[in-house]
Amino acid sequence: MRILMVTSEVFPFAKTGGLADVASALSRELKRMGHDVRILMPRYYHIDRASLRKRDEALGIWLGRGEEWTAVYESELPGDGVPVYFLDHERYYGRDGIYGARPDEGFKDNAARFALLSRGAFQFCRMLHWIPDVIHCHDWPSAPACYLLKKEERWREFGKTLGVLTIHNLGYQGVFSLEDALYLQRESDRFNLSGLEFAGALNFLKAGIICADEITTVSPTYAGEICRPEYGFGLDGLLTYRRSDLTGILNGADYSDWNPETDRFLAPDNYSLDSIAGKARVKKKLQARLGLPVDSKVPLVGVVTRLVEQKGVVELFAPVQGALYSICRDMAVQFAVLGSGEKWCEDELEHLNSRLGNLAYYRGYNEELSHYIQGGSDFCLMPSRYEPCGLSQIYSLAYGSLPIARATGGLVDTVENYDQSAGRGTGFLFNDLSPHVLYQVLGWVMDTWYNRRDHIRRMRRIAMKKRFLWETSAQAYLGVYEKGLTKIKGTSPGRVRV
Ligand code: ADP
Ligand code: GLC
Repeated sequence: MRILMVTSEVFPFAKTGGLADVASALSRELKRMGHDVRILMPRYYHIDRASLRKRDEALGIWLGRGEEWTAVYESELPGDGVPVYFLDHERYYGRDGIYGARPDEGFKDNAARFALLSRGAFQFCRMLHWIPDVIHCHDWPSAPACYLLKKEERWREFGKTLGVLTIHNLGYQGVFSLEDALYLQRESDRFNLSGLEFAGALNFLKAGIICADEITTVSPTYAGEICRPEYGFGLDGLLTYRRSDLTGILNGADYSDWNPETDRFLAPDNYSLDSIAGKARVKKKLQARLGLPVDSKVPLVGVVTRLVEQKGVVELFAPVQGALYSICRDMAVQFAVLGSGEKWCEDELEHLNSRLGNLAYYRGYNEELSHYIQGGSDFCLMPSRYEPCGLSQIYSLAYGSLPIARATGGLVDTVENYDQSAGRGTGFLFNDLSPHVLYQVLGWVMDTWYNRRDHIRRMRRIAMKKRFLWETSAQAYLGVYEKGLTKIKGTSPGRVRV
């Protein structure tokens, strides 16, 4: 099968969160299974042109008021040769930042920047003389490609191409002014907003949800949740309407990157289930490096996250009400926090860092430290308001750092709650999210750590054996592709209407 992944993030070229990991791991696995997979993404400013190869042809992409010209560069995913193509456009991508100059601010011209990516996907395929069986879009930045496929391209070379949209996070929809709709419309269709408009604004994700032939999201539990008002961000009605085309497929982990036995960032203290001693050494070094008291007896809780509301940061870190200050004051515990995001939260964490001897905060994005925290922590805290899948807890299970997580989305599908009577489980789950509950949950975890250490040891062993393989997830994606392709076979392009 020929599959084009159109995405705004791909590890290791550009990453702000789990989407980047999924885009590369899924592509790699599909290629390993024998499919012709290619990835298209923007060449952001930080991706050095010198590390890529420039193609001779340029692309002319129609964008609302005229044609934009982009160069195309190419490279591969490290190790396994999945081709990655980059759209290069100085005005739209030649600046620092993927979505904005700061993690909590979007660029004003994001509608044009990502419409260029979505429109560019079709021109790019024409340039290669390579018409894919599947165009697989991820989240709002490439969702319009599903819209454009149905609205314009099915009448052209793409009559047999399936449009698949994966929702990694419904909380980000790509909402812009209606004036920006021109980037996705044809000249002759300027007054037709059907499919593009939602609640008086242009909504990229909605356009994708309406037009994708198949929709997936990244865990079975989240697939059910987003059809309900509490988690639907206004689109639950539409998703319920499309429920029969919506499939929840759990993400996997790429264990060639995330395995304590081989993780290059942990060397020389790599460890495994049968030889766990290295974990204690990593913990010791982590404590020393972050300026925490070096003490193996005190449990270390790692938090590696984007600092945004979704992740429960208000309940945890907010000045005065947040639970963290009281937890650190009252309990014999340590925290290692790594993250960037909303400015108030970064500032508050720096403040807590200077006031509390048992909390260390690293501001910013740091791949190496994220691995080291997974390796050196005893627990990984994820009090998410919602969590489509979550990769941090999947990695932390492999590293024997037990998740403490809210029972939502993919966290429910990957973590087995501690059963005190049996002394089993892989983590600690709770339902309500409030500072009070967080305080109680940490109390429960501390009680288990100090009074039932044998349970912790057993849970760690069970956790480290858990595997969430991309092979299984990629098979499920192939199932969705096949189902969709059978469906559109019977539909003549002329009958497709939006
Ligand atoms: P999300 O995609 O919502 O951010 P996930 O748990 O799926 O959540 O994925 C988060 C990914 O981003 C993990 O690989 C995690 O290690 C990484 N990550 C998040 N914040 C940072 C950071 N500040 N530095 C390094 N890695 C980070
Ligand atoms: C999103 C979600 C996260 C998921 C990731 C990869 O950013 O917030 O839960 O794991 O995408 O699918």
